[in-house]
Amino acid sequence: MPAYAILGAQWGDEGKGKIVDFLSEKADVVARFAGGNNAGHTVINNQGHFSLHQVPSGIFWPQTLNVMGSGVVVDPPSLLEEIKSLKSRGIDVEGRLLISERAHLIMPYHIELDQLSESARGENAIGTTGRGIGPAYSDKASRNGLRVSELLDLNTLKPRLKETLDHANAFITKVYGGKPMKLEDVFRKCSEWSQSLSPYIGAAEDILHEKLKQNGVIVLEGAQGALLDLDHGTYPFVTSSNPTVGGACVGLGLHPSQLVGVIGVFKAYCTRVGGGPFPTELTGQTGDRIRDLAQEFGTTTGRPRRVGWFDAIMANYSSKINGYTSVVLTRLDVLDGFDSIKICVAYELNGERINRLPGGQGFLQHCVPIYEEYPGWDKPTAGATRFDQLPEEAVAYVSRLEELIGSPIDIISTGPKRHEAITLRSIV
Ligand code: IMP
Repeated sequence: MPAYAILGAQWGDEGKGKIVDFLSEKADVVARFAGGNNAGHTVINNQGHFSLHQVPSGIFWPQTLNVMGSGVVVDPPSLLEEIKSLKSRGIDVEGRLLISERAHLIMPYHIELDQLSESARGENAIGTTGRGIGPAYSDKASRNGLRVSELLDLNTLKPRLKETLDHANAFITKVYGGKPMKLEDVFRKCSEWSQSLSPYIGAAEDILHEKLKQNGVIVLEGAQGALLDLDHGTYPFVTSSNPTVGGACVGLGLHPSQLVGVIGVFKAYCTRVGGGPFPTELTGQTGDRIRDLAQEFGTTTGRPRRVGWFDAIMANYSSKINGYTSVVLTRLDVLDGFDSIKICVAYELNGERINRLPGGQGFLQHCVPIYEEYPGWDKPTAGATRFDQLPEEAVAYVSRLEELIGSPIDIISTGPKRHEAITLRSIV
């Protein structure tokens, strides 16, 4: 009963989409367990170039069932758009996409509230994707949420919707001075979604357990990353779910003993989108060079990503809380041609060297990175598929990262396409 979790190990955007696509060749199921359409997973394969936001990245392998678990928040209009776009490009979705009846809905008022609360925060804005993620998870936690299954019973949904909408409208109007939404308008949308989404809604948890009993291979697809985790990330500049291994189990109703592999996906440097502390951030020419070379712009919002050197203190914390059995290192090729490359191995805080990630963002803001510097390499790593094609300086860099992360690097991705990768040890 093998299940493998593929998790973002930094602040998201590590290239998980490519890795999930790459590793799903042998999968029977690919399942998303958290987040919503705040995610942007880029997949480039022989069928084309795709940006996925909600549909799991296993959709391109015809044998896979693609599940959106109970931990996911579903935005119906954008999901329907994504399904339509995939179908128009010849990808078969019918009978291959399953949404847990327990997943929560992102409602139009969640999107409105996300945007209103971000403007109200002013300078301290989190820099959310504006997709209603935080308010949808808040409603879930405060027992005001609506679940996908409720779209299957509109008569019961309507009074529940009235209650939740009254609650949301009170915030929209009294806290933020916005305009209330009308029950009939929101209900009409729910009726439309009920029609178009009902074929995809089902007993995802039961089906997953059944597949595992039959010895099927399940790939759990993470979204966002460990440092955006609601509990373990750089709070409050985080997302509202748990993209870490515990969230993977909760968000699909699996138990930890069913996981045989936890795969952490790290970029060879760091990026983050939105606000919050980023000790190794490069604000000058080097950062611009990496951003331009790697086209570091958000798949979901198009925002330029902040860029920085690899932060081994963050990486080590990420590794500690997730227990990676394997690491995938992506975008090594972006560092081709640099004179030297730095790795942050400790912080200086109030004149003292520290080797741990402080929990309070007040402390983290004042952490100054302490770097080790490594020589760069001239020979390209781009497109390499064998380890012996890597220049020795790149090998030294990768080995040091492996030592600092504390888990084996089993795959090195050297380009955006499906087969541009070096497999050192087979994972799935
Ligand atoms: P939210 O998830 O839209 O509420 O945004 C909260 C924070 O998480 C913001 O800093 C976003 O930029 C960041 N974020 C959310 N999803 C992603 C992602 O898929 N990749 C990178 N950053 C993300």
